[in-house]
Amino acid sequence: LWTMHNFAQEQIEAIKKQVGDRRVLCALSGGVDSSVAATLVHKAIGDKLTCIFVDHGLLRKDEGDQVEAIFKKRFHMNFIRVNCEERFLGKLAGVSDPEQKRKIIGTEFIRVFEEESSKLNDIDFLLQGTIYPDVIESGTKNAAVIKSHHNVGGLPDDVDFELIEPLRNLFKDEVRAVGEEIGLDHDLVWRQPFPGPGLAIRVMGDITKEKLEILKEADFVFRDEIAKAGLDEEIWQYFAVLPGNRSVGVMGDERTYDYTIGLRAVTSVDGMTSDWARIPYDVLENISTRIVNEVKHVSRIVYDITSKPPSTIEWE
Ligand code: XMP
Repeated sequence: LWTMHNFAQEQIEAIKKQVGDRRVLCALSGGVDSSVAATLVHKAIGDKLTCIFVDHGLLRKDEGDQVEAIFKKRFHMNFIRVNCEERFLGKLAGVSDPEQKRKIIGTEFIRVFEEESSKLNDIDFLLQGTIYPDVIESGTKNAAVIKSHHNVGGLPDDVDFELIEPLRNLFKDEVRAVGEEIGLDHDLVWRQPFPGPGLAIRVMGDITKEKLEILKEADFVFRDEIAKAGLDEEIWQYFAVLPGNRSVGVMGDERTYDYTIGLRAVTSVDGMTSDWARIPYDVLENISTRIVNEVKHVSRIVYDITSKPPSTIEWE
């Protein structure tokens, strides 16, 4: 009988056998796939699993702390959080080309992971949260690359580990069902897709700490209002972007010259095509009012009403 309960139990038994007394390393991103994979393997082998969480500082507000709270404090995993915001921002300084940003982040991620893993001894296996759509996609790589979608977690081919990929036969909804089955938080299991390069591709042009902070706060308010309106599970992805231009506004008797925030919310089945979400006007109004009131240096809010194609979901 094919149920998620049976699947989880069988995998746990199989991983126990396969690993024995040896050790497993995992690059945990806090996304659905790596989180489910790590939790499943942790159930099988406990402390023989070590997770490295590279916090590049480009995650959403409070997200790094939430990941740490779940895996380190609650599940008591061997969990290494590497805080390297300064390092990533340093490498990204002055870079405005989107593909260049992706390359820098991908390369730097691998470097940090290698540095950290070289401090550990006796690792035999590398755990990856590969799921079935990833397997198909890499088998049919087509020539026209619109965006280089390497996920943070995409590791070099020459590593000296055996791979463990317990989710490689599952579709996303099955991965989620397994996640719920093994006790992961509903919020985490149903988390919206989030790109590996994170907020770096949501700040247009060059990234500064100031712009990142503004974006994090605005994005937080947006998500909060969407959740309050009960729209969080019907919208595929929703997030704020910072186009980087400033415009003239007025607050009290003062002229202001501040940033614009773009709101992006789309419905989609697989991210390949999408439509813009018809968020009710009154919800949009709350979002706009709150962002402008609560986030310094923002004086204008725009809502993106393009579908994919011709647009893409992300702005970069
Ligand atoms: P686009 O912007 O191409 O996005 O319509 C489609 C889906 O892919 C995500 N995305 C990325 N995911 N690395 C990732 O891991 C990336 O570089 C990247 N760029 C876009 C995007 O969030 C959407 O879900």
